[in-house]
Amino acid sequence: RLPALYKHNEDGCIVIAHRGASAYYPENTMAAFKGAEELGAEMIELDVLLSSDGVPVVFHDAKLEGHSSGKGLLSGYTLRQLKALDAGAWFDKGFKGIHIPTLEEVLAFAAGTIAVNIELKTEAVTDRGSGGVEEKCLRLVEEYGMDRHVLFSSFDYRAVSHLKALDPAVPVALLYNRSASGKRLPGELVKQYKADACNMSYRQFNTKRRRDLNSNGIPHFIYTVDHPNRMWKLLDAGVTGIFTNKPDLLKAVIDQW
Ligand code: G3P
Ligand code: CA
Repeated sequence: RLPALYKHNEDGCIVIAHRGASAYYPENTMAAFKGAEELGAEMIELDVLLSSDGVPVVFHDAKLEGHSSGKGLLSGYTLRQLKALDAGAWFDKGFKGIHIPTLEEVLAFAAGTIAVNIELKTEAVTDRGSGGVEEKCLRLVEEYGMDRHVLFSSFDYRAVSHLKALDPAVPVALLYNRSASGKRLPGELVKQYKADACNMSYRQFNTKRRRDLNSNGIPHFIYTVDHPNRMWKLLDAGVTGIFTNKPDLLKAVIDQW
């Protein structure tokens, strides 16, 4: 069930559950990742930050408010303190009692079952690639035999370079950022940072950038799309993968396409 990441899929595209099946479950939790797999996703996307004692944990925002019972910066909490928080009740009372997962917990579930896009959040990235968040995550991925079934990504291009220096074969995508990239096309950036792929918002996926990605043969994954018409257009455009909060909906659109 693990997709061939670098094959442009003529039968449709890779279904990536953004923060898990986050339309139906609290985002970035085991419930959302297991739900995504049950709904037919081929890859789960998650966000990595570091606890104050240096453990890679899965959470999107630098601050805990909104998606957990905690307050303030996640990076100020030890893993033990984070595990005491509730990460489900904000979404629905029925999910009360579920916790922020570590990256290791998600990899233990995903190994042999589903591919994983690991986004290293800028807040976790430093100039220390070796010994930093990149090396910690890479070691975990290797430990679970997932090093050819993950796609790392980051808006912080230091992380892209660090990962490729640590393991040139591990798949890494550069997250395209129009404001930081100026007029540079994604193909140029992907080559400069030795990335394997490009992740891009559907808002920035215009004709010029699409042609640039295709003419350079760069796999590209477009986020975050929950509308069927937009999914259909991206399928017509031949994208490699689509991030969605509703993997069941994307599967249904691919079936009809
Ligand atoms: O990697 C695609 C997407 O997840 C990036 O945006 O804010 O949802 O992490 P964000
Ligand atoms: Ca993300």
